[in-house]
Amino acid sequence: MRSFDTLLTDLNGGVLLVTLNREDKLNALNKTVISELNEVMDEVYQNPEIKGVIITGSGPKAFAAGADIAEFKGLDAAEGKALARRGHDTFNKIELSPKPVIAAVNGFALGGGCELAMACHIRIAAENAKFGQPEVNLGLIPGYGGTQRMVQLIGKGKALELLMTADVIDAPTAHTLGLVNHVVPAAELISHATAMINKIASKAPVAITQVIRSVYAHFKDGMDGFEAEISLFGQCVSTEDFVEGTTAFMEKRKANFKGK
Ligand code: COA
Repeated sequence: MRSFDTLLTDLNGGVLLVTLNREDKLNALNKTVISELNEVMDEVYQNPEIKGVIITGSGPKAFAAGADIAEFKGLDAAEGKALARRGHDTFNKIELSPKPVIAAVNGFALGGGCELAMACHIRIAAENAKFGQPEVNLGLIPGYGGTQRMVQLIGKGKALELLMTADVIDAPTAHTLGLVNHVVPAAELISHATAMINKIASKAPVAITQVIRSVYAHFKDGMDGFEAEISLFGQCVSTEDFVEGTTAFMEKRKANFKGK
């Protein structure tokens, strides 16, 4: 993989660690970060050596403190829409990744940072993590999927409260709301996320991809999630991994999945 201006990437044992690398700007998501994340996700889709992804931020203070506010100056409506569209394209690619993507949230996850975490399949927060959508302080609304994914994750009432008050909540509160899956000590954040990717990667890879697609179908306009599940179930039954998984169970041995 090429080296990036705003991201660090490290592929170790099939787990790709992607670190947002603008520590002096609290890893704010500028245009380059969004386009480089998009490129990384293309690699994730295509590279069979990658079995899962962890996204985190550099430094102890922030996962990402939002979209880069410095890039907002002088935007007109069309440019604002284009900026939001680019963010949506990248975050949709994360959400629909055929391989698991975990946000390892190591500090502030505000605005676009919270939206990035919500686009990942699973969120693990360090004890010092903080979450919020402060856009209304800037005369804005979230533009990278936050109004939709927050409702999906924590429900309309709580989402509307956070979106309208711009309150910043701590990790235990985010956990109670269901915004994050786990809260762990900061020093254990990456090892915890890595262990979870490895656990998921030990299952049948095609089935993992179909779980992601089937759950996504629930939220996609115009799709019937139950019908999608029926069809994806049918596709799983025609895989070699299905034969291997069920045979291994009957033979009382561990399955050896090939992702086919
Ligand atoms: N966009 C651009 N730059 C940002 C940024 C953002 N979203 N968030 C932080 N930065 C920059 C600051 O401008 C500062 O840069 P400088 O050193 O060149 O002045 C640097 O990151 C450090 O931030 P600072 O505000 O000094 O840190 P702090 O500890 O005092 O405050 C926050 C931390 C997160 C509370 C504060 O940075 C903040 O409110 N950020 C914006 C959050 C936001 O509104 N996000 C939604 C954007 S749509």
